[in-house]
Amino acid sequence: MSATITASVGAPFARIMSVGAYRPERIVTNEEICQRIDSTDEWIRERSGIIERRFAAPDESVVDMATAAATVALERSGIAIDQVGMVLLATVTHPYQTPSAAAEVADRLGAIQASAMDISAACAGFCYGVALASDMVRAGSARYVVVVGVEKLSDWVNYEDRGTAFLFSDGAGAVVIGPSDEPAIGPVVWGADGSQKDAITMTQSLIDYRDNGGPIFPTLEMQGQQVFRWAVGEMAKASQRALDVAGVAADDLDAFIPHQANMRITDAMVRALKLPEHVPVARDIAYTGNTSAASVPLAMDRMLESGEAPHGGTALLIGFGAGLVYAAQVVTLP
Ligand code: UT7
Repeated sequence: MSATITASVGAPFARIMSVGAYRPERIVTNEEICQRIDSTDEWIRERSGIIERRFAAPDESVVDMATAAATVALERSGIAIDQVGMVLLATVTHPYQTPSAAAEVADRLGAIQASAMDISAACAGFCYGVALASDMVRAGSARYVVVVGVEKLSDWVNYEDRGTAFLFSDGAGAVVIGPSDEPAIGPVVWGADGSQKDAITMTQSLIDYRDNGGPIFPTLEMQGQQVFRWAVGEMAKASQRALDVAGVAADDLDAFIPHQANMRITDAMVRALKLPEHVPVARDIAYTGNTSAASVPLAMDRMLESGEAPHGGTALLIGFGAGLVYAAQVVTLP
């Protein structure tokens, strides 16, 4: 006869307790970007909504930025560091294959008892992390989880590529997820379409770079129009499904916080969702650029700090990007 195994027991529900952000100091204008590509400030504003973005300092790492954002989120959560059971870190720009950035961040935070791992789900990484953390808290594998979205895309962009040079930027956002007596994170609607893997990829693998003797270090490469069409066509539908499974109407939202991919994608999603005018929409991209995994928590932090979205309000989140992958959920704002 097999032995009886004791299973873990978690909290009835999970919630986002707090959010923290880190924006690097250096502001990079469209004029500066246009020194390397054939473009204009006007074109960039019109086609992407970006007015300026932030780049990290050369010696400022993904781990530095993640630790800064997580420190703020932890302070705001009020929990003691020894209560953190897991650090989940979403990034595609940590420049080491191994070890994970998450393990280093956990150590820097002093979360020596926490487990830690990185998530590779590009611009959907943060929303993947929220879904996983929520399930961990509810299953009892961790009581408190720090979820970080962080990117230093400036290290992986070809500044001569006019399809990407103006779009991507750097930053970090983090949340603490913990137990709740009421539902505060709705079911996740997520998916992947690897048949579109070439839509956002690298110019070559690091192995090819090594074996071919360069000459050009691998950088991001994007089929902009293909991604644009997919995002506009499919992501509003995924957002609607996330509302439906959470039992929340668009009219009841206090904020819509989509991945800050392109202002025109956000506008198209707002139209497709028939979002009522009273629902505030995150437009952090204007001054932050597209920070991939960091964009949703950065935008959330800005909306709460500016008073645009209320603490305790209901928000629809969606992340989408390279893979192609996506994840959406309705949450109660911290
Ligand atoms: O975060 C991960 C997911 N990523 C995304 O969601 C990004 C999705 N894609 C996009 O946001 C857009 O495709 C871009 C902003 C990257 C590009 O905008 P677009 O409206 O799709 O531009 P396009 O590639 O269709 O090009 C339109 C025109 C072309 O000229 P013609 O053929 O109409 O004369 C391009 O040559 O704009 C030209 N163009 C530029 N002009 C000035 C392309 N890039 C530039 C540029 N500056 N940087």
